[in-house]
Amino acid sequence: MADKPVALEDRADGGDGRRYAPSTARNREPIRDLFAAQGLTAGDVLEIASGTGEHGAFLTDTFPRLRWTYSDIDPAGRASQEAWRNAAEHDRLLGPVIIDASSDDWGEVEGKAWDLMVSVNMVHISPFVATEGLLRGAGRLLKPGGHLFLYGPYARNGEIAPSNAAFSENLQSRDPAWGVRDLDRQLVPLAEAAGLHLKDVVPMPANNFSVIFRR
Ligand SMILES: C[S@@+](CC[C@H](N)C(=O)[O-])C[C@H]1O[C@@H](n2cnc3c(N)ncnc32)[C@H](O)[C@@H]1O
Repeated sequence: MADKPVALEDRADGGDGRRYAPSTARNREPIRDLFAAQGLTAGDVLEIASGTGEHGAFLTDTFPRLRWTYSDIDPAGRASQEAWRNAAEHDRLLGPVIIDASSDDWGEVEGKAWDLMVSVNMVHISPFVATEGLLRGAGRLLKPGGHLFLYGPYARNGEIAPSNAAFSENLQSRDPAWGVRDLDRQLVPLAEAAGLHLKDVVPMPANNFSVIFRR
């Protein structure tokens, strides 16, 4: 399972509060290239479950027209996100905001229409109510034509890569409410009910997918 992120992976702190997840070192460049290819390079971004905060830091360094708001349910994650924001040489990192994705009230971010929402590796490492709330939130808060970007492992119409099936079992042994979800059977119907349509699914390294919904 060494190529898969889990919540308990080692997240070393460099001394200034910025934490680092090994999974991000592996996926941030493929995600950057995908953002460039999909034209997700400008506008106001709301990230759900920002974790260490590295994706926002890396992608705002790369794309100078992105303005990125961090959020997480977890105070330790938000502390790291704040440290990344403080270390940035620009003012386009905002938050962190306290957001529980499963809630239908995301507090201060509700008043705004967002160009892009991003969530990396949350869907399988949280109870499914978090994904349900994430999709409802994207339908509620994205601008018309705005995008929701998800990254992680998925089953597709009942088919799952053996490494993802093993990873899912491993996750469920840690928490029975976690597990790899089926994109087509579990997410797409909820996304459509929320006013989103599936725009693109791009295979990524280690049997992950980038998933792009459009409102
Ligand atoms: C595996 S980490 C991924 C973090 C980061 N996106 C990354 O790729 O490194 C899963 C994240 O989901 C967050 N999370 C879990 N349940 C959540 C919920 N209901 N609402 C918001 N965030 C949640 C955790 O706090 C954690 O930061």
